[in-house]
Parts: sequence; structure tokens; C-alpha cells
Amino acid sequence: MDPNTSGLVQKLAEAGQSHLLQFWKELSTKEQQELFQDLQGMDFLEINKFFKSAMETSSSTKHEKMDGRMEPVPREVLGSVTRDRESLKDWEAKGLDCIGQSKVAVLLLAGGQGTRLGFSHPKGMYDVGLPSHKTLFQIQAERILKLQQLAKQKTTVNCCVPWYIMTSGRTMESTKNFFSEHKYFGLDKDNVIFFQQGMLPAMDYNGKIILESQGKLSMAPDGNGGLYRALGNQGILDDMQRRGVEFIHVYCVDNILVKVADPTFIGFCVQKGADCGAKVVEKTNPTEAVGVVCKVDGRYQVVEYSEITLATAEKRSSDGRLMFSAGNVANHFFSFSFLRDVVQEYEPQLQHHVAQKKIPFVDVQGHIITPEKPNGIKMEKFVFDIFQFAKTFVVYEVLREDEFSPLKNADAQDGKDTPTTARHALMSLHHRWVLNAGGHFIDENGRRVPAIPRDGAAGSVTDDGNRNLKDGTDLPIKCEISPLVSYAGEGLEKLVKGRELQATLMIDEHGVHELVKNGV
Ligand code: UTP
Repeated sequence: MDPNTSGLVQKLAEAGQSHLLQFWKELSTKEQQELFQDLQGMDFLEINKFFKSAMETSSSTKHEKMDGRMEPVPREVLGSVTRDRESLKDWEAKGLDCIGQSKVAVLLLAGGQGTRLGFSHPKGMYDVGLPSHKTLFQIQAERILKLQQLAKQKTTVNCCVPWYIMTSGRTMESTKNFFSEHKYFGLDKDNVIFFQQGMLPAMDYNGKIILESQGKLSMAPDGNGGLYRALGNQGILDDMQRRGVEFIHVYCVDNILVKVADPTFIGFCVQKGADCGAKVVEKTNPTEAVGVVCKVDGRYQVVEYSEITLATAEKRSSDGRLMFSAGNVANHFFSFSFLRDVVQEYEPQLQHHVAQKKIPFVDVQGHIITPEKPNGIKMEKFVFDIFQFAKTFVVYEVLREDEFSPLKNADAQDGKDTPTTARHALMSLHHRWVLNAGGHFIDENGRRVPAIPRDGAAGSVTDDGNRNLKDGTDLPIKCEISPLVSYAGEGLEKLVKGRELQATLMIDEHGVHELVKNGV
């Protein structure tokens, strides 16, 4: 382990990264070993190349607006849960058939660092405070279990939906341990496959890799688009091929409402002969900071809010809806052959995006400094960067209140995308499922709770599930339905129809429980 004799010193010098060994003599033997190993495994010339092209692309596109080159998604490639109601049953049946034939896999993007949430474990281990205290991982696992059951009911044969889980160097061990401790939440261990995305060093604006301490590089996962490289070099494509997977549903760990392997979405994409599909939610407010799916120079891509002018963001179609309304929620369909082509052919063409960050670093005296303004960049690829390569691209629009509530930030008063908003979104959806199945809610005095709470007059509910007549805060009724009982609201009539139920209501595989009434 001598950096001189091993050629490391020379390798670093050639790449202009010699400063990485500046504290070598001050490190303990263990620290030296670790740093040596980290450095030996890195391709500095490739990293320098990534830096150069990412910076060039970022500075050439920084001030360029996309407006003139954009076209909205044409109606013929768009499916919509509200505008194509007559087709939903067909699409769902098609999707369930594919699932029943074990042709569908799900792929979870869980390699992020979850910095904004500030939770010290992988985000999927987060408990948003539901009555059951299930974590995001458990909710998703149970949705897969239920879907396998629904597909079996339809096709009468056993099927399996393999679950590929992408983690990063920082989250792999704890994610695997969590699943093993919880016995894979009832799934077959062989069908839960973990793999690891790559990491890249943070760089200063001069292309020098940043040291976070004297013996350690500042490393971060290479973005959720790191998926494509990892699929190839971790043997995941081969595994999919061996299992006969034909369609893949890719989604993010933090959306509590995610319909994992949504049969209707899959059926829609398959019937349209799509190789790539994006689920979207309607962007209703022109200034909402969400990327929109659209065509640019004739090819599909996601255009960020910062890349268009307000005038374009405000443009409306003849039906009054925003012209660029297809809000991207990182929820995608890929055919296996498309994914294989991306991995084997197109991936190297993808550019890294530049994120300017405040990156803690060690100064020449060896002190760790936490900067107050951005001092460098992280390089990331995005999962949607590959839309441009699709031959048959489709878009599927769903209702935000039914399918999208991401967990991004820690709780704060009036915070957006927090544990509270995620919990409320799920409970509000399940409340509506109960009402749609013919159930009613009553308060602690036995009075019917109006189905639609109105501020003040009709009152609302407190977070412990009771109506709140005092401040009129609009909180959902506390109600949670296990995914093991219902995937998307189906099968609840036999449990709730005509019944008067009191919150906190929990419906799970053991039955219907009214927790407050029973003093729980
Ligand atoms: P975000 O971009 O919201 O990042 O990820 P994050 O890690 O969850 O949170 P912050 O930005 O650090 O606060 C969207 C999805 O992409 C995954 C995340 O795990 C999440 O499911 N992701 C992100 C990866 O899989 N790898 C990455 O390198 C980055």
C-alpha cells in the first residue's frame, strides 16, 4: 500500500488530483488503507471528462430558454384516468394479465441521500405516523403482495413480481438488514433483489475533487439516472432476462401513494405498444416548480420550470387547462428491450447535470469548513434523461390526490411534502375509499360526519381522528386500510357497506378495527 510504488501518485498527477494525498503522512495506517483503496478504485480521467462536459453543458444551457422549441404532449399518446374512463377496465385487465404471466417487474429508486428529510436511515425506513406505523418499504411490499394475489385471482396461476431495489454505497447495508429483519414483509426473499448505483466525487469549480476530511473524499450517489449504468454493471439486466421480465415499472421511494406496478398504467402502455411511458399529474398552477413532460425539437423530455418563461408556463389550451400541464412525478414504464438498448447503447450519451451545493471541505491546514454559499458541484444523471431515445413514448395522466404525495422535507408549520402531508394524503384517500364502498363515519356522539368537511360550519377533524369544530382546520379522518386488504379501493364493500364507523379506523387482514371506540 505505497502510493508511489503502486502508481497511484503518478495516476493522480496525470489527472491533476495530487492534492488528494496532501495529508497522507498525517493519516493513521487504517485511514491510509481506506483512502488508498478508495483512490485505487477510481477512474480519474473519466471523472475529469464528466466534469468538463457537465460544466460545458450547464453553462451553455443556463440562459437559454426552451420556449420556442417546445410542444405539448399530443392527445393521441396521452391516456388519462379522467378523460378515458371507458378504457380503464380494459387497460387494468391487460396489466393484470401481464402481471399474472410474471412479465412485470418493479424497480425502486432508493439510492438518494434524503438530505432534506434529515433522517439518518434510508428514506424507505421512515414511519410517517400512520395508525399502523408501517414504513414506506412495508407499504410498498404489501402492495406488491396484494397485486400478486389479484393477478392470481384473474389468471388462476401463481405469479411473481420481482422487486429490484437500487440503493447506494451509503444505504445498501442498512436497507438489506431492514428487509431481512422484517422477513421481506412476506415477500419471497429470492424475488427482492438489491443492487447498488455508482458514486461520484463532489468537485470544486476548478475540477478538483473535494476532500471532506483529511483521508476521505466527498462522495455522493450519481443521481437516479445512475440506474442505467448500474443495471448493466450489477448484472440486473441479465437477471431480468433470466426471469422473462418484459415490462418494468420504475418509481421513487418517497411517494407514499405510489401504485407499485399499477396494472392500469402497465396495461395502457402495453396496449399502446410503448417502449417508454411516463405517469404524470396535472400541473394546475403555472408557477408550480415541477418539470413538465413535453416535446423539444420533436423528442420527448422533461423541461424544468427554470427553463421556460412565465408566459409559456401560463399558456392555456382551448379547454382552459395549462398547455404544458404534464407534471413529471418520476414514475415510469419501460419495456425490457428499451431498457436493454439504453444500457448497452445510449447510456454513455447521457450528460451529467450540475447541482451547485455547499460542500463541507477540509482546508490546507486540515480544518473542516462548512461553507455558507455554494463552493462546488455534484454531478447527477436523471432517470428521465432517456425519454429522448424512445420510439413509442406515451404519457398517462392520473389524479394527484390519488397517486402522488412525496416525502421530501422534515415537518414544519405549513410545510410542503412532509411526513404530515404524506400521512394526511394516505388517510384522505382511504377515507374516500370507505365512502365509495358505502361506509359512513360517525363522531364520538354517534352523529354522521359529513362526507365533505367544510371549514367552520361542518367542522373538520383533529389529527386524532375526531371532528374539530373549534378551529376549522381541514384535517382528514384518521383511517388506514392495509394494502393487504385493498390495492386501489377494491373489495371493501363487504367490510364497510352500510356500516357506521368511528375513527380511528383501521382495516387490515384481521378485520375492521375502530381504535378509539375500543380504547386503543
Ligand atoms: P430526490 O432527488 O428527491 O433526492 O430523489 P432525495 O435523496 O430523496 O432527497 P434530497 O434531495 O437529498 O433531500 C428522488 C428519488 O430518486 C432517488 C431517491 O431515493 C428518490 O426515490 N435517488 C436520488 C436515487 O435513487 N439516487 C440518487 O442518486 C438520487
